[in-house]
Amino acid sequence: MPLVMSANDGYRLWLDYAKVTDEALRGSYAKQISSIAYQSETPVIRSAVKELQLAFSMLVGEELAATRTNNERAGAVALAFGRDRAISHLRVNRELADLGADGYMIRTAADKTYILGNTDKGVLYGVFHLIRLMQTNSAIASLDVKERPAFNVRILNHWDNLNRSVERGYAGASIWEWENLPNEVSSRYEDYARANASTGVNATVLNNVNANAVFITPEYLQKVKVLADIFRAYGIRVYLSINFSSPRILGGLETSDPLDPAVQKWWKDKVAEIYKIIPDFGGFLVKANSEGQPGPQDYGRSHADGANMLAAALKPHNGIVMWRAFVYTVDASDPGYDRAKQAYLEFMPFDGMFAENVIVQVKNGPIDFQPREPITSLFGAMKKTPLMVEFQITQEYLGHSIQLVYLAPMWKETLDRDTYCNGRGSTVARVTDGTIIPQSVSAIAGVSNVGADANWNGHIFAQANWYAFGRLAWNPELASEQIADEWLRMTFTNDQKFVKPVKQLMLDSYEASVKYMQPLGLHHIFAEGHHYGPGVWERLRPGGMRPDWVPEYYHRATQQGLGFDRTAKGTDYVSQYHSPLREFYNDLSACPDNMLLFFHHLPWDYKMRSGRTLWNEICYVYTEGLDDVRRFQKIWDMQEGIVDAERFKAVQYKLREQLRDAIWWRDGVLLYFSSINGLPIPYELERPMNKLEDLMRYRLKMGISSSPPGAEQQTQQISPMNPGPQPR
Ligand code: GCU
Repeated sequence: MPLVMSANDGYRLWLDYAKVTDEALRGSYAKQISSIAYQSETPVIRSAVKELQLAFSMLVGEELAATRTNNERAGAVALAFGRDRAISHLRVNRELADLGADGYMIRTAADKTYILGNTDKGVLYGVFHLIRLMQTNSAIASLDVKERPAFNVRILNHWDNLNRSVERGYAGASIWEWENLPNEVSSRYEDYARANASTGVNATVLNNVNANAVFITPEYLQKVKVLADIFRAYGIRVYLSINFSSPRILGGLETSDPLDPAVQKWWKDKVAEIYKIIPDFGGFLVKANSEGQPGPQDYGRSHADGANMLAAALKPHNGIVMWRAFVYTVDASDPGYDRAKQAYLEFMPFDGMFAENVIVQVKNGPIDFQPREPITSLFGAMKKTPLMVEFQITQEYLGHSIQLVYLAPMWKETLDRDTYCNGRGSTVARVTDGTIIPQSVSAIAGVSNVGADANWNGHIFAQANWYAFGRLAWNPELASEQIADEWLRMTFTNDQKFVKPVKQLMLDSYEASVKYMQPLGLHHIFAEGHHYGPGVWERLRPGGMRPDWVPEYYHRATQQGLGFDRTAKGTDYVSQYHSPLREFYNDLSACPDNMLLFFHHLPWDYKMRSGRTLWNEICYVYTEGLDDVRRFQKIWDMQEGIVDAERFKAVQYKLREQLRDAIWWRDGVLLYFSSINGLPIPYELERPMNKLEDLMRYRLKMGISSSPPGAEQQTQQISPMNPGPQPR
């Protein structure tokens, strides 16, 4: 079996299946599950059986026999779906019907464990649930579980390029070995599918949104087919990002105008060709008229025209279009321009005009995956168009694969945020899962952090973010704490001496990273290009970069004050939200500290809730961020001997780098702002270790650039030996 390797380099992820140490518990599992019986055999059922056998042999140390049989009373664990007789025998059809295509029940009846679904996929998810219970040492003797996912499409977006570079990827090369496919098939593909299925992820976009048209050529479709065939056995459908100019680039047409009949026909034929090769192909993801990508506006057409043209081609095959709302192409030099407003301004006029099989994919925040942003105003605003949230699992703005930052709490802030679009309780989760906006398909996306590194994600704890995305996509109501608890137990150990402190570390890690990078609503003060360290001193220059790529545009620091005024007196971004969210952010006395400088420009001596001035508060919060990382180091160091040496050392090493880079952030931002406002860093706080001139001169060598139109990204991997300036 591919995941069984001797050294623990993290390859096995949370499917580690370490032997249950408690003998009594192991015995009870062995008693409850002594064999498997299944009535219908499909590739997905075969995956389910194989996984249960693998997990059981490793967790319990015993082999499980599996039999295909029509005797519904055979086998200690019965897997059944659809019309299988075990289901009629249990009389649960009605209960099951409520659980949809992917839902499942696990029920103990007469000492047998039934795992039932409407489809074989439901059974597979049920099997992973049962395995998780054993991995987390839970009792399984009397189960009555019913699960149904919140979103129909739970999808990873790979930003992977043809040359195996990964845009904003920090875990090595792309796992898709295009040059070897379709003939050579890496065993990683199946392990990737298993990992996803174990969390409930059921879809994947293989290539970068800055899309190379080549992926839909006949040659590449044969390669994609190989992956689709492997993934199908784990309930995963394949999608592709397309280049809107494909009719011109590949078809030799003179235009890619979506209203041109020849263009429409080209897409119709192309889609038919794709479905011939991949009958369950999911559909297209499209980045159009954004950051230089082509799109319908090139021909004077709208986003709706573009999306609907593709939707019409996909419709007969039940495919969908995920059309991204990450747009900000208008002239940014206008003094009243606010990038935060752009998605709303461009998309609201088309609310209700998108075809039924189009979902507009919206980043969680209006700027760009910043450590902390308010929700994008489109959520709750577009009431006649299905929307889906796009999260970023890869840590472009959250410390790459160097920093330990557990992202579930951040994503929960978005999912739980009330938009008030339909009264109280209209959370982002509920306005995107079909509860509030009528829609035929609901979805949620995460930009993948998977790469070819041995441990898949570059940092062992970045695995938790992949896991957490899948779990929240299945059930956005899960608590961050529960997900962290599961992940730690499955990945490392059930030993409470480890789980308790390390879980707390994980739960505190997101807030800590915001504190030492961009607290109190500060945003986009990263260094240009790599988005890792601070670039707070990068100034607006005539003839320089677009203003909305420059930190000064966002922090607006002057000798008098700091922050971006998006209130009614400023750019009025707040008015894009429903009441009372609008007033909440507009009103200085209501606006929470953690969003303050996103919405308000304030004098340095503004009195904060803490009683400190704004400037002193900033200094305190940055310093607290450092103290948190120091605390994380101690907590981790105490785990030596509890976790295996290989993973222990890998994490210890990264935490050291995290502290060094947190110092870089704290020193850079405080010294720079202090140079602007002339105020000292309060003397009771730790003094900076660096000099501002040195930090400003320092160029981090990792060429992850933003995307020129249609170009392949040359992504150099960050060198772990050289991630930032060395503390002196
Ligand atoms: C960010 C990121 C780009 C990416 C873009 C997108 O701007 O830096 O690399 O292409 O988001 O989401 O399309």
